[in-house]
Amino acid sequence: MSSTALSLLTVALGLFVAPALGDISPRADLSSGLTTLSNNSAAAWPGPNATGGYAWTGAFAQAQALVAQMTLEEKITLITGQPGRCVGNTGAVERLGVPALCLEDGPAGVRPVQGISQFPAGQAVAATWDRDLMYQRGYAMGKEFFDQGVNIALGPVTGGPLGRSPRGGRNFEGFFDDAYGTGEAAYQTVRGMQDSGVLATAKHFIGYEQDTFRDPFNQSESYQVFPVNVQTPISSNIDNRAVYELYLWGFAEAVRAGTGYVMCSYNEVNQTHSCSNAYTLNNLLKTELNFQGGVMSDWGADWGDAEFINGGLDISMPGAGFGGIFGPFWGQALIPYIDNGTVTEARVDDAAIRLLTPWIYSGQPANPPPAVTWNADPQYYETEDAYWRDVRLVETMSLIRQIGEDSATLLKNTNSALPLRSPKVIAIIGSDAGANLLGELDGGGSNAFPSWNLNGTLTLGGGSGWAIPPYIVTPYEVINYRGRTMNSQVYAVFNDTAYDAVNVTVPSADVAIVFLSAFTREGEDRATLYLDNDGDTLIQTVAANNNNTIVVMHAGGPVLVENWIDNPNVTAVIASHFPGQEAGAAIASVLFGDVSPSGKLPYTIGHSLYDYPPDTIVDTPVLQPQAYFNESTLIDYRWFSAHNITPRFEFGYGLAYSTFAYSNITIQSVYVPDNTSIQQTHEPFEGFDGTNSLYDTLAVVTAQVENTGDVMACETAELYATLPGSPGIWLRGFDKLKALSPGETRTVTFALRRKDLSLWSTERQLWYIPEGEIQLQVGTSSTKLYLTTSWSQS
Ligand SMILES: *[C@@H]1O[C@H](CO)[C@@H](O)[C@H](O)[C@H]1NC(C)=O
Ligand SMILES: *[C@@H]1O[C@H](CO)[C@@H](O)[C@H](O)[C@H]1NC(C)=O
Ligand SMILES: *[C@@H]1O[C@H](CO)[C@@H](O)[C@H](O)[C@H]1NC(C)=O
Ligand SMILES: *[C@@H]1O[C@H](CO)[C@@H](O)[C@H](O)[C@H]1NC(C)=O
Ligand SMILES: *[C@@H]1O[C@H](CO)[C@@H](O)[C@H](O)[C@H]1NC(C)=O
Ligand SMILES: *[C@@H]1O[C@H](CO)[C@@H](O)[C@H](O)[C@H]1NC(C)=O
Ligand SMILES: *[C@@H]1O[C@H](CO)[C@@H](O)[C@H](O)[C@H]1NC(C)=O
Ligand SMILES: *[C@@H]1O[C@H](CO)[C@@H](O)[C@H](O)[C@H]1NC(C)=O
Ligand SMILES: *[C@@H]1O[C@H](CO)[C@@H](O)[C@H](O)[C@H]1NC(C)=O
Ligand SMILES: *[C@@H]1O[C@H](CO)[C@@H](O)[C@H](O)[C@H]1NC(C)=O
Ligand SMILES: *[C@@H]1O[C@H](CO)[C@@H](O)[C@H](O)[C@H]1NC(C)=O
Ligand SMILES: *[C@@H]1O[C@H](CO)[C@@H](O)[C@H](O)[C@H]1NC(C)=O
Repeated sequence: MSSTALSLLTVALGLFVAPALGDISPRADLSSGLTTLSNNSAAAWPGPNATGGYAWTGAFAQAQALVAQMTLEEKITLITGQPGRCVGNTGAVERLGVPALCLEDGPAGVRPVQGISQFPAGQAVAATWDRDLMYQRGYAMGKEFFDQGVNIALGPVTGGPLGRSPRGGRNFEGFFDDAYGTGEAAYQTVRGMQDSGVLATAKHFIGYEQDTFRDPFNQSESYQVFPVNVQTPISSNIDNRAVYELYLWGFAEAVRAGTGYVMCSYNEVNQTHSCSNAYTLNNLLKTELNFQGGVMSDWGADWGDAEFINGGLDISMPGAGFGGIFGPFWGQALIPYIDNGTVTEARVDDAAIRLLTPWIYSGQPANPPPAVTWNADPQYYETEDAYWRDVRLVETMSLIRQIGEDSATLLKNTNSALPLRSPKVIAIIGSDAGANLLGELDGGGSNAFPSWNLNGTLTLGGGSGWAIPPYIVTPYEVINYRGRTMNSQVYAVFNDTAYDAVNVTVPSADVAIVFLSAFTREGEDRATLYLDNDGDTLIQTVAANNNNTIVVMHAGGPVLVENWIDNPNVTAVIASHFPGQEAGAAIASVLFGDVSPSGKLPYTIGHSLYDYPPDTIVDTPVLQPQAYFNESTLIDYRWFSAHNITPRFEFGYGLAYSTFAYSNITIQSVYVPDNTSIQQTHEPFEGFDGTNSLYDTLAVVTAQVENTGDVMACETAELYATLPGSPGIWLRGFDKLKALSPGETRTVTFALRRKDLSLWSTERQLWYIPEGEIQLQVGTSSTKLYLTTSWSQS
C-alpha cells in the first residue's frame, strides 16, 4: 500500500527537471548485468487453475459452485477493488451472499484507525528469535484486525523487502535480512494471524528491495524526477539461484502456513511488472509453491488489464477505490478483452475462485468480523464520520512489552554498566526519550489521522507499516518513576542539539542514558545509516562529559556506530529496534535488570556502508531504472562471510547479563515426515518419490548450553550450514532457551529439513542435496560458532 495517500496527493513535483520524454527506448537494451532476462509472458507460463490444494478442497468446491452462479459482470466486480470504508474493498455479490470484503493495512497493526494497539515492527519480533512470540504477536494482531471489522489484513511482509540493502526504507516491516529466518517468522505470523480469524496477505511478491523508483501508478513520490507514469518502476533483475535460495523462501513458508492472499509488488522483475509477471506469479507462486489463494496488486502496482490478469494477478487493488486515482483498470475495462478472447472467462472464474476460497475456508461467511463503520479510504475519511471503537485487550499490552524486552539487543556492556544498580543521579538525554516535542503524534502535520512520531520516542517506522498508537510509554516516564522509587535524582534534556544544556546536566550523573533514533519509512530509502538529528554529536557530547554513557537506539535497520563505539566512556549500547507502544516500559525492564536482554541482531552492522554489497539502491534518474542483483545470494551476513569482511556487530549477535558455554554437539539422521504444511507446495526436488516432501526432517542436531553467569537469562543458539558449492554460510536453525538459571544446562535442538540441506540447481531446475560433507556449526552468533559437526546424504 502506498503511504498516507493524503500526503502523497499533495506532494508537488518539486524536483521535476524536464527530461526527454518522447523517447522511451525498447526494453532489451541492457548495458550490464544479466543481459538475457527471462521470458515472463503468460504465453510462456500459462497459469494453473486453482484446485484448493491439500487443505482447501471443500472451500474450493463451494467457491467454484458460487462462481458458477455468477454473471460475468458480477465476477469482474468481485475481483476489482471498489470504493468503500476500508483501504481496499472487494466487490460484493449480495444476491449470492458474498459481502464486500474489507482489506486493511498493515504489518504492525490495523491502520489507519484508532482503538488498536501499535505492535512492535516485524524486525523487532525477529530480534527476539522466539517463534512463540512471533506466533503470539500474529495472533493478537490478527484478532484486533478481526474485531475491528477487517476480513483481510495486508501483512505480514514475508521477504519483500528481505533486506538486500541496509538502506531499504521498508526493511523494518519485514523480519530478518535472511531467507530462513524470514521464513520461520513468516510461517509463525501467518498461522497466528489466521488462527485468530482474519486472513493474511504475504507481501510484497517479489524482489521489492528498494522504495526509490518503485513508482506506483499515478502517484507522485518524494524521489520523483519524471511526471507520473513516465518512468517505469525499478526493475529487479535477479538471477535464478537468488530467486529460489533467497527471495522466494519466505513466501514458500507463508504458503505452507496457509496464507489466504499474496500481494504482488510495485517493482518490475526482469523488466516485467511484478503483477503481470507470469514467470513469478503463474510459475513460481501458483505452480511450484502451489498457492491456491488470490494474488492482489499493491495499490498502484496494476498498470493494465489483459497482461495482468493473464500474468497471474487475481484481484486489482484498489480498483475503483481511492476515487479511481490508481487507474482505470479492470472492471468494465476487462470486457472487450474477454469478448475477443484475449482473456478467457475461465481465467476470470479462476481469479474469483481464488479470491473466495480462503475466505470460505476461514469460516468468515458464517462468522464474519463485526460490522464497523469507520472509513479508511482517504477519499472518504475526512468527509464522513470517522467512528472507531476500542478493540484492545489488556494482555496485549504485556505481550507488546515482552516483545520489546526480548528484542532489546545488547551490543556493548563494559564495566558491568548494565543493569543499573541504584544510581544516585540519572541523566536522560535525547528527544527519543520523551513525548513528542511538538505535542502531536503526527510530528506536527495536519492529517486527521496521526501518521508518525518523529519528535519523541520512535516506536515504529512510517508509511503503511505505521499503526496509530493508543499511547506511547516513553523511556523518560518509566525511568523517572523508577528513579524516584529508588531515591535517585533524575534529570533530562530532550533537545537533541542543546549541547550546552547537556554539558550542564551530564557531568554530575552516575549514568547518562542517551536515546536516539533512525527513522525510516515507506516511499523512500534511508539516505545514510547514521542516527538522526546528528545523533553522533549528541553521543560524543554526552560521552565527553560522562564516563558512564549508555546509548539506546530505536532504529529500523543497521546504524553505523563507528564515531563513538570505541569511546571507553560509552559503556553500554542497546539496539532497541521499533518496539511499538510499550517502548519505555520494555527498555526500562532491561536497563534495570528485571529481565536480561536476549535480543540478537536480525541484520549485520558493518563498519561502513561500503562493507555491504555495492549500489543496492539504484537512484540514477533514468526512464527505465535497472537494479542488477549482482551479489546474487550474498546479502547481509552471507556477503560478509563470503568476502571475509569483519562486521562491527555480526548478524545474530547480542549479549545478555549472563554468559553461556556450548558443548556436546550431536547429529543423528532421522526421518520425520513433514507435518507442518497446512498447504503443501510442489517445489521440485531431487529424490521426489510421490510421498516425500521438501519439508521432511532428515537430521537432528543437538547441543548443550550452560548458563555460566550468575543471573537467569535466555540464550538463542544458532546453527549455520556450509553447503558444498555455495559460498558463505547459511542460517539453518535457531532455538531459544528461555529462563535458563545460573548453572543450568539445557539442550538445544535443530531439526534440519531436506530444504535446509539443499541448494537450487539452475540447470536441472530443482532442489538437490549437494554431494559431500555439509558442515554444520552451532554457536551464539554468525561469527561465534563454537561447535562443528557435519552431515552427508548416505
Ligand atoms: C553488475 O555486474 C555487471 C557485470 O556482470 C557489471 O557490468 C555491473 O557494473 C555490475 N553492477 C554493479 C552495481 O555492481
Ligand atoms: C515467450 O514465450 C512465448 C511462448 O513460448 C512465445 O510465444 C513468445 O514469443 C516469447 N516471447 C519472447 C519475448 O521471447
Ligand atoms: C482451466 O480450466 C478451464 C475450464 O474451466 C480450461 O479450459 C483450461 O484449460 C484450464 N487451464 C489449465 C491450465 O488447466
Ligand atoms: C531473470 O532472468 C534470468 C536470466 O534469464 C533468469 O535466470 C532468472 O530466473 C530470471 N529471474 C526472474 C525472477 O524472473
Ligand atoms: C490520476 O489521478 C487523478 C486524480 O488525482 C485522476 O483524475 C486521473 O484520472 C488519474 N489518471 C489516470 C491515468 O488514472
Ligand atoms: C482485444 O480487445 C482489446 C481491447 O479492445 C484490444 O486492445 C486488442 O487489440 C484486441 N485483441 C484482439 C486479438 O483482437
Ligand atoms: C522534529 O523531527 C524532524 C525530523 O527528524 C526534525 O527535522 C525536526 O527538527 C524536529 N523538531 C524538533 C523541534 O525537534
Ligand atoms: C534546541 O537547542 C538549540 C541549541 O540551544 C536551540 O537553538 C533550539 O532552538 C532548541 N530547540 C528547541 C525546540 O527548543
Ligand atoms: C560541551 O562539552 C564538550 C566537552 O567538554 C565541549 O567540547 C563542547 O564544546 C561543549 N559544548 C558546549 C555547547 O558547551
Ligand atoms: C570521559 O569522561 C570523563 C569525565 O568523566 C572526561 O574527563 C574524559 O575526557 C572522557 N573521555 C573521553 C574519551 O571522552
Ligand atoms: C568515572 O568518573 C567518576 C567521577 O566522575 C569516577 O569516580 C570513576 O572512577 C570514573 N570511572 C571510570 C571507569 O573511569
Ligand atoms: C551429550 O548429548 C547427548 C544427547 O543429548 C547425551 O546423550 C549425552 O549424555 C551428552 N553428553 C554429555 C557429556 O553431557
